[in-house]
Order: sequence, then structure tokens, then C-alpha cells
Amino acid sequence: MSTVIASRHLTRVARFYDSTIGKKAVMAVTGLILFGFLIAHMLGNLQIFLGRAVMNHYAETLHGNPALLWTVRIVLLISVILHIWASIELTMIKKEARPIGYRKRANVQASYASRTMMWSGPIIFAFVIFHLLHLTTGTVHPNFVELDAYDNLVNGFHVIPVAIAYIVAMVLVGMHLSHGIWSMFQSVGFSHPRYTPMIKTFAAVFSWLLIAGFVSVPLAVLTGLVR
Ligand code: HEM
Repeated sequence: MSTVIASRHLTRVARFYDSTIGKKAVMAVTGLILFGFLIAHMLGNLQIFLGRAVMNHYAETLHGNPALLWTVRIVLLISVILHIWASIELTMIKKEARPIGYRKRANVQASYASRTMMWSGPIIFAFVIFHLLHLTTGTVHPNFVELDAYDNLVNGFHVIPVAIAYIVAMVLVGMHLSHGIWSMFQSVGFSHPRYTPMIKTFAAVFSWLLIAGFVSVPLAVLTGLVR
């Protein structure tokens, strides 16, 4: 009996995902999870300004709790996979619906923002792979020391092209988030002539504040504020 109920439930979930709105909901929920992670990650990174002991204590606490660490890692991995998967499927649906495309773009601004999503997404993905090899495994770091997050950051950003690559990647993350948050509200059907511009401003301000927090770390190392 319970197997029948479970399989019916699964069929319903699969049918919901098959619809365009289902895919948009998956994009919105996984986007929100990734956004939440970024807020926590940025606040964690800012601890570098409190000194080596505080920063390393934070990193050690995270690694000292493998259950929490692996739960977060698995949730993030599943979210990234679903987010990318749904975005590819939605793009394919859009292309099938309009294989030739508009001769004149009806809304140049909207299409510019969504086209930005299609190339900023893959570049951010490539950045995350590099970032994990750089600051988590240390594979591409010149002098990585396990659990010494402070020195890993300082020594890592002394390599100027790497610091610049991080800053450029953060600008792309900012663009991606700014449009993503706004489009999440559109997907759930929140569109109002008075509130839509406010949501757009809120999404932009929030995203760029987050990015300012991220960028402050490589900038602080480059300028010698953190050494
Ligand atoms: C300037 C920007 C950033 C800095 C300075 C930074 C710094 C760090 C550091 C030091 C770690 C290693 C923590 C540790 O293992 O002790 C880390 C891990 C990580 N970062 Fe970043 N990060 C930045 C931006 C980002 C962005 C934009 C993303 C996602 C889009 C991201 C995703 C991750 C992930 C997934 C991990 C691995 C967490 C784990 O161990 O499972 N980071 N970051």
C-alpha cells in the first residue's frame, strides 16, 4: 500500500517537473539554496579581517564537523546539478517554441539579461571548479596548507592574475544573481507595474552588496591591508 502511495507521489513530482512551471520552480528553489550558501560563505570570508586566529578557527570548526560539512556539500552538489539541468531544458523548450527567433527583439533589455545568464552560468561553473582546486584541495595553489585558510587566502591572492580572475568571476556572479533573483519573482508569477521595478532594484542592491563583500578579500590582499 505504502509503495503504491510512494510511486503515485513520485509520478506527480515527475509530472510537475515535466511542466515548464515545474522546471522554473526547480530553478528558483535551487537558486535560493545556492544564494543562501553564498551569503553564509561571504560572511565567513569576512572573518579574515578579524585576523588569522579567528579565520582559521572558523575553518577548523567547519572541518571538525564532517556530518554538517558533507550534508552541506551534498545539498550544494544536488542543487547545482538540478539548477543546470533545468536551465538547459528550459533553454531547449524556448528554442523549440521559436526555432528561428525574433527578427526584431521585442524587449532588448530582457533578452540581454537572459542571454547574459547563458554565458555567465557556465563561466561561474568553471570558476567554482578552479576555486575548489585552489582553496579546498590546494591542487593548483602554490603553497597550500591544510586548514590554514588565512595563509592560503593571502598567499593565493599574492598571485595577481589569480586575484584578478576572482574579482572578474565575482562581477559575473553579481550579474547572474541580480537577474536570477528578479527572474525568480517573475517565475512565481509576481509581476506588478509598481512592485516589479522595486524588486529589480532590491535584487541588484542585494547582489552587489554580496559581491562587494566577496571582492573585499582579494582586494584587501592586493592592497596589503591583509598580509
Ligand atoms: C572572492 C571570493 C571567494 C573567496 C575569497 C572564497 C574563499 C573560499 C575558501 C577560503 C574556501 C575553503 C574553506 C575551507 O575549506 O576551509 C572556499 C570554499 C568553497 N567556496 Fe569559496 N570563496 C569565494 C567565492 C566563492 C563563490 C562565488 C562560490 C560559489 C559560486 C564559492 C563556492 C565555494 C565552495 C562550494 C567551497 C567548498 C566548500 C567545501 O569545503 O565543501 N566560493 N572558498
